[in-house]
Parts: sequence; C-alpha cells; structure tokens
Amino acid sequence: MDARERYMLAPMAELSHRVLRELIESFFNQGEVSPPAPRFFRAAAREKMLPPPPLCGDTPQRPEYFTEMISAAGLLSGGPFEKWYLDGGPCPERLVYQLLGADPDKLAAAAALLDSRDCLGIDINMGCAAPAITRTGAGVKLMEDMDRAGRIVAAVRKRTKKRLSAKLRLGPRPSPAGESPKTPEPKIPAVFGSDPAGLPGFEYLLAFCRRLEGEGAELIILHPRFSDEKFKRRARWDYVEALRNGLSIPVAGNGDIASADELVRRGEAGGPVMIGRLAVREPWIFARVPAGNGNPGGAPGNFPEASFLEASFLEETALDFLSLLSRHQPPEFHLSRARRFFRCYCDNFTWAEHIRNKINREETLSGMGRVISEYCRENP
Ligand SMILES: Cc1cc2nc3c(=O)[nH]c(=O)nc-3n(C[C@H](O)[C@H](O)[C@H](O)COP(=O)(O)O)c2cc1C
Repeated sequence: MDARERYMLAPMAELSHRVLRELIESFFNQGEVSPPAPRFFRAAAREKMLPPPPLCGDTPQRPEYFTEMISAAGLLSGGPFEKWYLDGGPCPERLVYQLLGADPDKLAAAAALLDSRDCLGIDINMGCAAPAITRTGAGVKLMEDMDRAGRIVAAVRKRTKKRLSAKLRLGPRPSPAGESPKTPEPKIPAVFGSDPAGLPGFEYLLAFCRRLEGEGAELIILHPRFSDEKFKRRARWDYVEALRNGLSIPVAGNGDIASADELVRRGEAGGPVMIGRLAVREPWIFARVPAGNGNPGGAPGNFPEASFLEASFLEETALDFLSLLSRHQPPEFHLSRARRFFRCYCDNFTWAEHIRNKINREETLSGMGRVISEYCRENP
C-alpha cells in the first residue's frame, strides 16, 4: 500500500491502545445492513437525525494505528503489563508499534522481538518532550544527538523487515544567528545560515532526517513543534511541506487537525496525515473521510460535525468505550485510561467541563457510565 494515501492514529500514552482501535473500527462497515453502513450512519438513521449517507461511491479508508510508546527496556525485561501494550488487536495488519529508548542495542533487541509479531511497522519515538523521558536521553532528546539517532535507526534496521519510521518534532529551538548557546547543555545546534525564510532550524531538521533516511528509515512523521513547545503555539505545517520536498521517503504531518474537512485538506496537500486528540474526541472521524485523499462526492462536508450529533449517539459511543475498556485492558488501567479518554471526548458535550469533573470524581467505570447517561437524559 502507498503510505501517501494513509490516515493514521497518533501514538498517545494511555490512549492509543486496543480499546480506542476497537472503537474506531466499530464505525466502519459491520454488515448489519446490506450494503453494510458504517455504524455512524446506522445510529444516525435510527435516530432520524440525519439524512442517509451520501457515500459518493467511495468507501471510507481505515487508518493505520500507532500504539502508545512502549519502553524498549521494559519490553525486554518483561514487565507484568507488557502483554497489554503488545495487544495488536483488532487489526494488526495496520498496527505500528512505537518504541521508546536511547540505547541502540536495546532498541534493536526490542525491535527483533516485535518483528516476530503480526504488525505493519515499527516506529522510534524521537518526539516525546516529557521531562521524565528526555532525562533518560530518549524521546526528543535524541534530536540533539544526530549520531546516536542514526545509530539507533541503523541498529533497528538490521533486526526488522517491518516498515521502519521515526516520529519527530522540529528538534531543539535554534539559537538566533551569531549567538552562542547560553549553556553547554542541551547542545543546541547552530543555525547554519541557509534556512529557508521563516523556517528557523530547518536545515538541521533536514540533515537529521536525511541521516535517518540514509540509515534505513522508510517514513518520517513530523509533529512540527520545537522540543520545548507544548500545545500552546500552533503546529507549523510549512515545515512538513518543506521536509516533503527535501526527502525521498514519505513524510506524515501531524498536529492540531481539528475537523474532518481539515484532515481531508491536509491529506490532499500530500499526505499521509496523522491525528491524535481529534480521533479521541471524535472516534468516528476516520469513517467520515473517503478513501484516498480526494473528496470527489462532497463528503465529508455533507456529514454533520460532532456538535450536531444527538446526545443518544454520544452516549452510545461513550458506553461502548467503557465496555471495550473493561474487556480489553487490565483493571489496574481502567480509571486512568477512562479519565484520559474523557478529557478529550467530553468536548463533544455542551457542558464539557462540568461533565468532565463529574466523571473524574467517579471511582468505577459503571459510575462513569451512569454520569454520562444521566447527563444525556437531562441534555438531549
Ligand atoms: C495524551 C497524549 C499522549 C501522547 N503520547 C505520545 C506517545 O506515546 N508517543 C508519541 O510519539 N507522541 C505522543 N503524543 C503526541 C501525539 O502523538 C501527537 O504528536 C500530538 O498530540 C499532536 O497531534 P494532535 O494535535 O493531532 O493531537 C501524545 C499526545 C497526547 C495528547
């Protein structure tokens, strides 16, 4: 398959596990009617709140799924919860395991272990900016050490035939030209002086990615924010476009996509496209975008945005999530995973903060389900 045509679910700690994948897949054809309609439309038709689906002869495209980051060291030492992190259901053929670590040998050994499993690819996390991760030299810290990052890709490449990718940020913020870094650590790469206008640090990013490409990476996923940027500043998509022009392997863009229309538009601009938080808020999102990157029949513009969705549909989806969670994750994970999910999902409700707080106070999944059902009854 051509990666240029793909949509992807982002790796997200405590979110990108089997439960979210099961939920997303449930919005695709399920064979209850003939021809089978995605659950999204069946629910809508049942509630008589939407017109029948204008499918424009094109079926929605199922996404690729990245797992949450999996520590290479943890995997090798066989922790008690590893089997849950490794659960590749329900569609391992579209699953990409994301590995976290800073040691080329450990990452390579972990990749060899994953290589024997049913999956599409292996991804190396070079973008996580959480201090607990960067302190260990992993995540985005690797972007300060091109040589180590290159050795990691080379070592992993030797141990797997699966598609190998790396997910990055823009890297460390460059110091203004002519200024030397104020501290010896972190080693901030110099501005080389030939960055395209408006794209500081691009030359370093390009050199970094070319090194990964040279060592055998087949795909780069770029979340275009600098290492020290959280979610406040907008993702800089012009870097994605520039990087696509500079590499011969595909570059997936990721960051701040807020609607199905925007997802399609970004895909049309050259794909692949990865989404994170939007797919948690609207797990039906992938079922709304037609195959390929085109939008020939007008979809998804003909489909309602989430804000028009009836409370009963939102309730059904939330309850499905809770039931999948109790089936596919260990009890120790239930509350943390549910709270993470509802942090995004509650944005669909008018009184988002109110219901989020109520859910957070619950200590059981059934209590959370009750809160949602009551809310939906009171706010139809
Ligand atoms: C709760 C949460 C957990 C995340 N965990 C990971 C992770 O495990 N690995 C990773 O590479 N990125 C992780 N990210 C970053 C996302 O993959 C993605 O790059 C970021 O959310 C921007 O995409 P979005 O705007 O579509 O959400 C995480 C983001 C969030 C919100």
